[in-house]
Amino acid sequence: MSLDHSLQLLHHWSQTALDHLPPQAQEVLFHPLVPKAASALLALGVLRTANRSLSYWSANNWQKARPWQKERELVLVTGGCSGIGKQIMQDLVQAGVRVVILDIQEPSFKLPSNVTFYKADITSSENIHCVAEKIRVAHGDPTVLVNNAGVGHDGTILDEPEAKIQQTFAVNTVSHFLMVREFLPSMVQQNHGHVITIASMASFVAVGEMVDYCCSKASALAFHEGLGQELRHWYQAPKVRTSVVHPLWVRTPMIQQLTDAGQQFKQPVLTPEMVSAAVVKQILTQSSGQVIVPTTHTPISLVRAFPSWLQDAARSVGSKDLLNLRKWQTSQLSTK
Ligand SMILES: NC(=O)c1ccc[n+]([C@@H]2O[C@H](COP(=O)([O-])OP(=O)(O)OC[C@H]3O[C@@H](n4cnc5c(N)ncnc54)[C@H](O)[C@@H]3O)[C@@H](O)[C@H]2O)c1
Repeated sequence: MSLDHSLQLLHHWSQTALDHLPPQAQEVLFHPLVPKAASALLALGVLRTANRSLSYWSANNWQKARPWQKERELVLVTGGCSGIGKQIMQDLVQAGVRVVILDIQEPSFKLPSNVTFYKADITSSENIHCVAEKIRVAHGDPTVLVNNAGVGHDGTILDEPEAKIQQTFAVNTVSHFLMVREFLPSMVQQNHGHVITIASMASFVAVGEMVDYCCSKASALAFHEGLGQELRHWYQAPKVRTSVVHPLWVRTPMIQQLTDAGQQFKQPVLTPEMVSAAVVKQILTQSSGQVIVPTTHTPISLVRAFPSWLQDAARSVGSKDLLNLRKWQTSQLSTK
């Protein structure tokens, strides 16, 4: 069947279908604005696809990675004994990938056969180096590094103990430098690898009572951006991928104090599975990029481009929710 003939048939069928519509519907469809609106929607769709494609290829230095072969990959996940890190480990195991988890606490669960645990404090470069030597001897160089371990403490700038503030920066920000200094050189040498930074929605919106956490996660985002620049322009390793993942609240031990408040905690809470799915997708497709979980909250990443009054309003929503929750928790304690 020729193209002309196919188009004629399509036209005939659509005309017949339109003739069968009720007169009111035909009136709406034949309104002079309809073709303009349809063209605008089509143009938006084309722009959106082009924008996504440009973002993807730019983040990936316009180069395809060599095909993923699970046998030659080794994924190192920090903080793999709990919450999101544990889920990432489990999902990678399902995908048949070898995994090494590094954590300051021992696993409270039975390790799957292709997972090895190393106890390490990722805020200490000596500790990291010592464990790295053992990993290399036993498994080879990690090809994917997931900087996931993190801590979160509550307290205002004036109330929070200094040791906790220092720890937040040490675990959530400085450790990324230490881990990358240890494990990036082999990736650069092979021009193959992936560094994944688990940041947070707090990278974009700073709220009260967790200012140190928000600062550390804004830094984690800057770390990811700067790492990508160094790989591209300094180390000439364009095929070493970099991803940053920004989850909203996630039901893990880290925020148990908040989620234990049930309905009193007004923010939406994700499951570790949702975040892990996004991370594992980046790993298995060997794609660099910035991923916001859930994607419906992507506009939050634009908050700094908002006018000041709108930025303040956005931050105040989160702050007030936390403040109200604290008031409720205090009142519960005083009634006990
Ligand atoms: N839970 C949330 O609401 C949420 C939201 C956005 C981002 N995140 C981020 O996700 C990541 C994982 O957090 P989670 O919610 O699974 O928390 P979690 O507390 O369940 O797990 C964190 C893990 O990191 C480990 N860890 C802490 N300090 C360490 C150190 N010095 N050395 C080695 N390991 C250390 C802990 O032992 C723990 O196993 C963190 O970076 C966190 O900031 C969490």
